[in-house]
Amino acid sequence: MRLKTLLVELNPAEPDREAISTAAESLRNGGLVAFPTETVYGLGADALNPEAVRRIFVAKGRPLDNPIIVHVGGPDDLKALTDDVPAEAARLMGQFWPGPLTLIFRKSGQLPREVTGGQDTVAVRMPRNTIALALVRALGRPIAAPSANLSGRPSPTTAGHVLHDMGGRIDIILDGGPVEVGIESTVLDLSQHPPVILRPGAVTREDLKPFIGAAVTAAGIASARRSPGTRYRHYSPRARVSLVEDGDRETMVRLAASHAGKGRRVGLLTRGPCHLQGDAKVIVRSMPQDLRGYARQMFASMRELDELGVDEMIIEGVEEQGMGAAIMDRLRRAASR
Ligand code: TXA
Ligand code: MG
Repeated sequence: MRLKTLLVELNPAEPDREAISTAAESLRNGGLVAFPTETVYGLGADALNPEAVRRIFVAKGRPLDNPIIVHVGGPDDLKALTDDVPAEAARLMGQFWPGPLTLIFRKSGQLPREVTGGQDTVAVRMPRNTIALALVRALGRPIAAPSANLSGRPSPTTAGHVLHDMGGRIDIILDGGPVEVGIESTVLDLSQHPPVILRPGAVTREDLKPFIGAAVTAAGIASARRSPGTRYRHYSPRARVSLVEDGDRETMVRLAASHAGKGRRVGLLTRGPCHLQGDAKVIVRSMPQDLRGYARQMFASMRELDELGVDEMIIEGVEEQGMGAAIMDRLRRAASR
């Protein structure tokens, strides 16, 4: 079924109340509303309405066993979702909420199985974007929201990206401009001991250390305990991605020349000047040196090169500290087919 998707521009500093209440009304009626969060745009449905949540899976083409993060207006909203809030959760929420940290608890209550993918846990976060918070509060119920991209594609960091992937499939897009962080939240599983970082994100391992010690990362544990979402192909542009992990210039130039020699159109994402700049067969995009800047621009640059029709994308890796861990996680997934 093709819907008429309504695109509504909002001032993120002071979102128009009427627009927010129209969007909340749509959610109340089982509609799908995309909205900005500080990380990436989310595709929201009323988390307590199983039919609405099922529509998310259809719109995104998402595998049904991949659970969805529930967005709340504050720590008090947890009461309806879990009875088991460990002591470290209170400290983590005090420090990082609202913000890009998703916490996984043992679930309780009447959450539809579609939200949790049939697991006995629920992932929850309190976003800090004013539009996202206003929407959850206007609905008065938690909002289930994955990233608002077609499943497997780079996450959307502007309303334009959402329209590109979701136009005709969802009811409303709230446009709050480009997002602040550009990479998804950190997912921390507090239902196991010691806690496990299932997905590195904007809140770094170093940030978490004072609260949970040297957290285990998902890469170090058996696959059964990993986040279901990590099994699927992710963040991939249409073009084939080669990740040059150590950022070696000569390797990148050699790869680009070899692809171009075979008549392939090449896009290059580098972190500084590159002497292929000016070569008509290679499109070069220079990414910011600082990791936060890199993260903010990463998905948008992949989408831009796709739109320009490149066949091959060569991407320069970053150092794996701080935000760099999350960036490299996404780049490795984008490069694996
Ligand atoms: O920043 C974000 O987290 C964005 C914004 C919209 O909030 N959302 C987002 O959602 O990235 P999504 O669906 O693209 O990624 C959610 C990740 C998936 O890897 C999923 O498997 C995992 O969280 N997840 C959700 N519920 C889980 C659970 N109960 N147990 C383990 N992993 C879970
Ligand atoms: Mg996603």
